[in-house]
Parts: sequence; C-alpha cells; structure tokens
Amino acid sequence: MEVVIAADAHDIGRLAADRFAAVLTRRPAAVLGFATGSSPIAVYQSLAERVAAGELSFAATRGFALDEYVGIPAGDARSYAWFIRNRIEIPLGMPAGAVQVPDGTAADLERAALRFDRAIASAGGIDLQLLGVGVNGHIGFNEPGSSLGSRTRIKTLADQTRVDNARFFHSPADVPTRCLTQGLGTILEARAIVLVASGAAKAAAIAAVVEGPVTSMWPGSVLQHHPRATVIVDEAAASRLQLADYYRSAAS
Ligand code: GLP
Repeated sequence: MEVVIAADAHDIGRLAADRFAAVLTRRPAAVLGFATGSSPIAVYQSLAERVAAGELSFAATRGFALDEYVGIPAGDARSYAWFIRNRIEIPLGMPAGAVQVPDGTAADLERAALRFDRAIASAGGIDLQLLGVGVNGHIGFNEPGSSLGSRTRIKTLADQTRVDNARFFHSPADVPTRCLTQGLGTILEARAIVLVASGAAKAAAIAAVVEGPVTSMWPGSVLQHHPRATVIVDEAAASRLQLADYYRSAAS
C-alpha cells in the first residue's frame, strides 16, 4: 500500500485530484468510482477547479457511487444520489445520470444490488475508485464484520455510523438503519484505489487499515490485498502510523 502524508485537507484534495487527472489523460472515457462523505469534498473541489480552468474534462466519463441509504429518495438532500448530482456531476460537467447510484428506494432491494454490480461489470469495471473511511474502519458502508469478499448488498448500519452521520439528519433516530453498499469484493475489483482521510478522529482507523492485520473488524484493511491502493492522509490522521517516517522518506 502506498501511503502519502499530506499537509492538510486542501493538499489531500490536490494529490488525489492528480490521480484522477492521470487516469483521464490515459483514458478520457474512464469509469470512475466516487465516494460521498466530508473527506472527498476537497478532492471534488480541486477537480472542479481544473474543469473550470479547462485542464480536465469529465464529459466522456461514467461513474458509480459506493452506497446509498435505504428509503431516502434521490431528490432528498440527505440522499447520496443528491450528493452525487450536486457535488460531482454538476461541478464536474457530467450529464445527469452519468454516475449511477444504488437504488435505495427499489421495491426489490436485493435485485437493485445485483443490478448495480452487473452495471459495473458491463461498464468494464472501475478504473479509479475514491474512498473515505469511517471511524470504525468502514469503506462504503461495509461495517465491521463484513465479508471480505462481499458484493453489493443490503447492510445494516452500525450504531457508530448512524451517530456519525446524524449531523445530516434531525437526530440519530432519523438516520436510516439500512443501506445498499458496494461490497468489499466489489471495491477490490477497481483497477486503482485512492482512500483519503483527515483529522485525528480517523487516526485509529487509518492505523488499523494500513498497518493492522487484515480483518473484517476493520473492513478497510482488505485494501492491503489490492495491488494499487494509495492512502492519502493529513498529519492528524497519520498520527498513529508506526511507519510514518518511512512513508515520508519513500514519498520524497
Ligand atoms: C460515510 C460513507 C462512507 C464515508 C464515511 C466517512 O458513512 N458511507 O463512504 O467514507 O462514512 O465519512 P466522512 O468522510 O464524512 O467522515
């Protein structure tokens, strides 16, 4: 795993955006995997600036979201479909629907999950997948205990995750209890992965994901099996890494 320790969230955004730019240079019609949450916002801002400056175009790209709450319709500002439309498709100049989001309002959620995995496969797989990480080590919504080979499916959210995401809802009780999420096995099929994290609250998760044993108790640790996974963190998120000096010297 490649670990890059950046100065701050803005620097994380710039470095991760560089990875997107490199993929788009090679393949303008790339298939991209987008994450929601606060951590990737600086990445999308950096990408939007490059699009506005005419340096980068997402016009020919397609994409896939990682996850969606069950029961929150796409037009609702708390849905991940809303985030994808307003934080990614519009600022990056992608047509509506260019990024597919699991359908958390489907009558048959299991079929919707299966359909989502098939859509990724029919697109030829994901060239670059961006990830954040939960304080409990989840990626997507693969909570502790997730099968390391799991596919897109219905998951029950951990209490910790519902508390962490309550800031977007009136109260923790309003946070949905279930979601559809790409599985860990699905995520691992992306050809390259970039995980971003900032702040001290993520330090334990980053230490476990990067340097701990591969275990379903810290689902992101499965990325240690990926041949092209990069973790980009700020100093606070890197503060519990034993090999921080090594990562710094390897990057210089
Ligand atoms: C959310 C999302 C994840 C995200 C994580 C961290 O619940 N499902 O995809 O990476 O939790 O979110 P944040 O970046 O806001 O801390």
